[in-house]
Amino acid sequence: MNSGTSATRDPLVAAARECCGNAYAPYSGIHVGVAVRSTSGTVYRGTNVENAAYPLGNCAETSAVAAGVAAEGARFRIAEIAVWATDREGKILACSPCGGCRQRIQELAVDDEVSVHFPWHGGETRTTSIGDLLPFAFSLPERGPPPSERD
Ligand code: THU
Repeated sequence: MNSGTSATRDPLVAAARECCGNAYAPYSGIHVGVAVRSTSGTVYRGTNVENAAYPLGNCAETSAVAAGVAAEGARFRIAEIAVWATDREGKILACSPCGGCRQRIQELAVDDEVSVHFPWHGGETRTTSIGDLLPFAFSLPERGPPPSERD
């Protein structure tokens, strides 16, 4: 269910691509859009938002996850996620979620099999799971091991 099919992937990638056009990225020129489908079936979008004080900028994944939590509260869980990225001229860029965003996605993913779609070198869309992107994810002791390592 969480791995996604072309029926769920294609509209999610299209949403990420559309929202990528709204990115605020005047400093890096790397425009990123993210679309997250929650377990409720709703799609939330986010872009990167940069700042003249560079470290204040945030990734598109952060924005999309924040939109989901704002709408659904603590119940929000990610069922599938798509990333899209372009340069200033609209050329597609390879962009897998950065290390910090892998941790953000993993925390709220419904399980480790959640599909992550992203543009890769050569222009094709790659799909993997959040568990593959972030094995041995950090979690607090009381949360126990990640789903893939539970009995
Ligand atoms: N960026 C994202 O939005 N998501 C990622 O996973 C990787 C990087 C953004 C942050 C920054 O605005 C720009 O890409 C260049 O690092």
